[in-house]
Amino acid sequence: MASEVSAGEVSPEGKHVSHASRTHVVTHLPGDGVGPEVTEVARACVDAVAARHDFHIDWRSCHLGGKHYLQTGEVLPEGVLEELRKSDAILLGAIGTPEVPPGVLERGLLLRLRFELDLYVNLRPSKLRPGVSGAVGKHALADLDFVIVRENTEGLYAGAGGTVHRGTEFETATEESLNTWAGVRRCVRYAARLAAARSGRLTLVHKTNVLLNAGGLWSRIAREVAAEDGVELSYAHVDAACLWMVDDPKRFDVIVTDNLFGDIISDLGAALTGGLGYAASGNLNPDRTGPSVFEPVHGSAPDIAGKGMANPAGAVLSAGLMLSHLGEDAAAADLDAAVNSVLAAGEPATTAAWQEQLLGHLGAAR
Ligand code: IPM
Ligand code: MN
Repeated sequence: MASEVSAGEVSPEGKHVSHASRTHVVTHLPGDGVGPEVTEVARACVDAVAARHDFHIDWRSCHLGGKHYLQTGEVLPEGVLEELRKSDAILLGAIGTPEVPPGVLERGLLLRLRFELDLYVNLRPSKLRPGVSGAVGKHALADLDFVIVRENTEGLYAGAGGTVHRGTEFETATEESLNTWAGVRRCVRYAARLAAARSGRLTLVHKTNVLLNAGGLWSRIAREVAAEDGVELSYAHVDAACLWMVDDPKRFDVIVTDNLFGDIISDLGAALTGGLGYAASGNLNPDRTGPSVFEPVHGSAPDIAGKGMANPAGAVLSAGLMLSHLGEDAAAADLDAAVNSVLAAGEPATTAAWQEQLLGHLGAAR
C-alpha cells in the first residue's frame, strides 16, 4: 500500500521523489481501441486531484492487449505479471481488437488477471448522474443509485467443463458453475459491509428456484452473513431483478450476485444510467494480497477509436474507485463531483473537451 515518503527524499536509485506525503504505485495499462484515449484523461485527472490532496502517483506503464499480442504473440507473460503484482493498483483502459479471435484475450488476459490477482469482487456502481438521460426517463436521480457486487473468480467463469466427441453429432459441450463456500462467503461479506456503510440493505440476486445447488449455497451464506453483519437481506430471482431494475430500481441498494448474473445485470444497470460510456468498475482484491484492477466497462470500441470522440467518464469514475481503494476518499469524491459538474453543464462532444472541463473543475491547468 502507500509508502510514506518524506519531503525531498532521495530514492535508492538516486532519483528525487515527490514532495507529496504519500505515494501510490499505479500501473497504467492502456490496452486497445479507445483505452489509451480515455485513460490518458483519467490519469491527468488523478494527477490533478493528487496535487490537491497531497499525494503522488508513481505511474508505471504496461503494454498488453490485442495490438501487443498481434505484434509479439504475448498475452500475459509471467515476468509482466510479476511486475504488475508490485503495484498498488492497475488502471486498465480496454482490451480487444477485432483481429484477435474471441477468448484469447478475455481468458488469457482479463480473466487471468482476475484469477491470478484474486480479484474476487467486481464492483459496478449504477448511478444516474445529472444531465444524463437514463434509458427509463421516469426515474429521479436518487432512484437509480445502486451498486452491483459481482463475484469475480468463480461460477461459470472458472473454466470448468469441456468438449467431447467434437465434430460429431454427439458433440457435447459443458460449462460448469463452480461455487465454493469460501469464495461465495468472502464476496457476500464484502457486499454486506458495503451495504452496512450505505443504506443497510442487501439484495441477493440468483435463480434459487432452478439452480438448487448453487442457489442453496448462496442463500444460506447470504442469510448467515447478513445476520452477522446486521444488514437487511432481500432476495430477487435474476429475471425478476431485471424487471425491477427497470420498473422499480429504488428497491435496490447493494446487490450481490454470481459472476455471470453480475456480468449481465451490470450492463442493464449501465444502460439505465446513461449507457456503457459512464459505467465504472473495480476488480477488487479486498484482502489486498495484490493490486486491484480498475477499468471502464465500455471495452475498446474500435469503431470510434482514434477519433477523439470517446467519452472518458467511465475511465475517470473507475479511477475514482481506484483512489477510494487506495484510501484517498476525498480525492475520489472530487473526481466524482467533477464528472457530475461536467455532465450537468451538458456533455462535451470530444474527449479533449471532456479533459479541459474536468481539469477546469479540478482547478488544474490543462
Ligand atoms: C466485463 C466483460 C468481460 C466479462 C469479458 C470481456 C471477459 O464483459 O468485464 O463485463 O465477461 O467479465
Ligand atoms: Mn460484461
